[in-house]
This record gives sequence, C-alpha cells and structure tokens, in this order.
Amino acid sequence: MGRILWHFMEYHSVQALTVATISTRRPQRKNTRTHMDRLYADNAATSFPKPPEVARAMQDYAEQLGASAGRGAYREALETGEILAETRRRLARLIHAAAPEQVVFTFNCSGALNLAIKGLLNPGDHVVATRMEHNSVLRPLHALADAGIITVDYVSADPATGLVDPAGVLAAVTPRTRLVCVVHASNVTGALNDLGAIGPILNKKGVVFLVDAAQTAGHVPIDVQRDGIDLLAMPGHKGLLGPLGTGALYMRPGLEQQIRPILEGGTGSVSELPRQPDHLPDKYEAGSHNAIGLAGLGAALAWIEARTVAALHKHGAALSAQFLEQIDDVKGLSLLGPRDPARRVPVFSIRVEGMDPAEVAAVLEAEFGILARSGLHCAPFAHETIGTHRDGGTTRLSLGPFNTPADVDRIAAALREIAAAIAPV
Ligand SMILES: Cc1ncc(COP(=O)(O)O)c(C=O)c1O
Repeated sequence: MGRILWHFMEYHSVQALTVATISTRRPQRKNTRTHMDRLYADNAATSFPKPPEVARAMQDYAEQLGASAGRGAYREALETGEILAETRRRLARLIHAAAPEQVVFTFNCSGALNLAIKGLLNPGDHVVATRMEHNSVLRPLHALADAGIITVDYVSADPATGLVDPAGVLAAVTPRTRLVCVVHASNVTGALNDLGAIGPILNKKGVVFLVDAAQTAGHVPIDVQRDGIDLLAMPGHKGLLGPLGTGALYMRPGLEQQIRPILEGGTGSVSELPRQPDHLPDKYEAGSHNAIGLAGLGAALAWIEARTVAALHKHGAALSAQFLEQIDDVKGLSLLGPRDPARRVPVFSIRVEGMDPAEVAAVLEAEFGILARSGLHCAPFAHETIGTHRDGGTTRLSLGPFNTPADVDRIAAALREIAAAIAPV
C-alpha cells in the first residue's frame, strides 16, 4: 500500500484536474525519484525515436539540395527528384505493389484515406465499414453520407478484442456496395484483422477494398497483391519510421481510371495543360512535395528493408507476449484487446479500476516517466464496441522497433504499482 509516491504539486495546469482528483483519494507524499529516463510509449500516434539515418538524410537534403522536385533541370532539383523516386520504389517494394507509380504520396494517412474515399465514391454508392475504424475513415464517410451522396453500413467487431469477423464484413456487402473499408490493426485494441479472408472475395465481386494500414505499415508484412487490397492508406511517420508530414496511398493498377483527384494544381509536368494530368502519380500529387520529409522517409525505408518487416513484426510480437504475460495477474488492471500475440500489434489499451484513463496516463508520466495517451484515440465507435466510450476511453501504450524487453518490464511494473496503490485496502 502507498508504494506510489504521489507528488502532484509539480504537475502543470493541464494535469491539475486529474491530479486533484487522485489526490483527494490518496495522501500526498513526496516524490523521491530524482531522475527518470523518459520512455516513449506512444508509437501509435507517431514513432519515436526514428533511425538516426532519418535525421541525417533530412539534414543532407536541407544543407546540400534544398530544391523542389520536378521544378527545375538543375542538378539539385534532379537529385531531389531521384530521392523521391527512390522513396517511392522502396515503399512499393515493401507492400509488393506492381509498380512504384501505384504509390501516391500524401501528407499523412488521413490524406490517403480522404483521397481514396472522396475520389472513388459516386452518388448512390453503398459502403461497408467496420466499427473499429478511425475518424480519418469515419469522418469522410459521414461527410458524404450527410450530404446524401452515399449510404454506409457499419459492421461490428468482437467486444472483447476488437477483432473484425471477415464473414460479417462480407455478409454486409450488397449489389450496390462500391467500397469496403477495414482497418488492418485497431489503434485502440491492437487487434490485427485477417485481410486475406476478405480481399480476394471482394475482388471477385468487383467491390473495392480499402485498408487503413496506419498501425501496420512497417510493423506487419503487407502484400497488396496476395490479399486483394485495392487501396492501402499508410502514414509515413508511424511504423514506416519517417518524419511527420509523410504518407502514401497505394492504388491497384487501373483504379486511377476511377478515382478523381481531390486536389488539382501544378505537378511540374505537362505544364501546357490547364487540366490535371491523368497519369500516375502526378494525377494525385498537386503542389510542391514535402521533399525533406520524403528524404527522411526514404532513409527510414532503407533501414526497415535492411532489417525486414518480418523481423520487426517478430520483435513486436515478442514484446506483446511479454507484456501480456506480465500484466495477466495484476488485480484491478484490465486489457482491452486480443490476448493472442499473433492476433495483435503492440498497441495496448488498458484500464485501472477506480481511475480515469487520463489519471493513469498522468501518473505514468509524472511518477514513472512513461509517455502514454489516454482518451478515445479518434475512434469513437471502437470504444462503443469495447464498452469504454462513456468512461473516458482507455489509457493506451504503444511500442515500436526501438522498444526493448526492459521497457516492457518497466511499463508492466509501473502499471502493477498503480493498480496496487489504488486498489481497496
Ligand atoms: C487507425 C488509424 N487510421 C488513421 C490514422 C490517421 O493517421 P494520420 O495522423 O497519419 O493522418 C491513425 C492515426 O493515429 C490511425 O491510428
């Protein structure tokens, strides 16, 4: 009892409410921890740290090139163009795309999802989406549905894990269904969905299959051709280990005939045309590129390629197995998500009985130097599904390739200590 050394006076104002809430339940004690290494456990938001090569590539670009790709015939512009082309080739290889041009750069995963959804759908179309989708899918769908353009059916998931039943998704498809959206891994529960049980069947029906790979690109091997994925949305800044401001949409060859750009503008190509070019990738890449970001992403992809996604996935699964085992017997602590490390990525939503998820995150930071995120994680239907919507969501800890078994020990020990301190005596 009382093993947590509450020392709330040092909190900043944003945490004051939380702190006050807890401090009424426990006596204030002095924090004797003098120094704590910060342990970043919010890789589901954006990965940190990045491989050192990423910052080096960005610095090299900034100091030696600084040009805009496709906007000049001088050496610096051409070299910048080559950096972008190499990044595109690496990304295409990573997901087994037929050709690099099938990969369109965006500024994040939301940009890729908006392009896929708003570019593809036409009045009268029906869409099937899961209730585990992120707001970056839900909001574009609701915008189109609210405007009377499309109709959407949301398929529920297993309340205990957040896993989506492929048969349920397929059963919701109607003759009017144009698009099916499935999140590869939930950013709330970590549940890893079986794309191969959905994609090839949708391909036969002629229904477009959009996968949100925000939590899997770079973490889990992806083969768009094997799994019948027509559209794959990826952030460059999470598992792909690039900087913020990068992302991409993969399009199955031929789909560019059916997808309108949602942004028109200069491409540095066929400038005599006052209309958007219809060749890939220029059709969807209006305006100057985030060259410095894409230089960083290219270096990150080289780092991933050298290690292989399969090995990184194995590392993540080992951390998951360790975490699940270590928190299994902690009284008052519940994990929302699959218990099988093979059915998840290392994104863990937890709740501590008697504490608000924001309080848990605040204590993790202040007392243990562990950086977690609390709340609904931009996925309101997912929290409705697992029953945490009305109680402030969950506290989420998400790991990346640089996390170690020692990090997992530290997180599990911290959670154990918090749960014990709040438990009724
Ligand atoms: C499942 C999922 N989809 C989409 C997104 C949006 O990604 P971005 O922030 O790159 O737009 C996120 C971000 O957390 C996510 O977790």
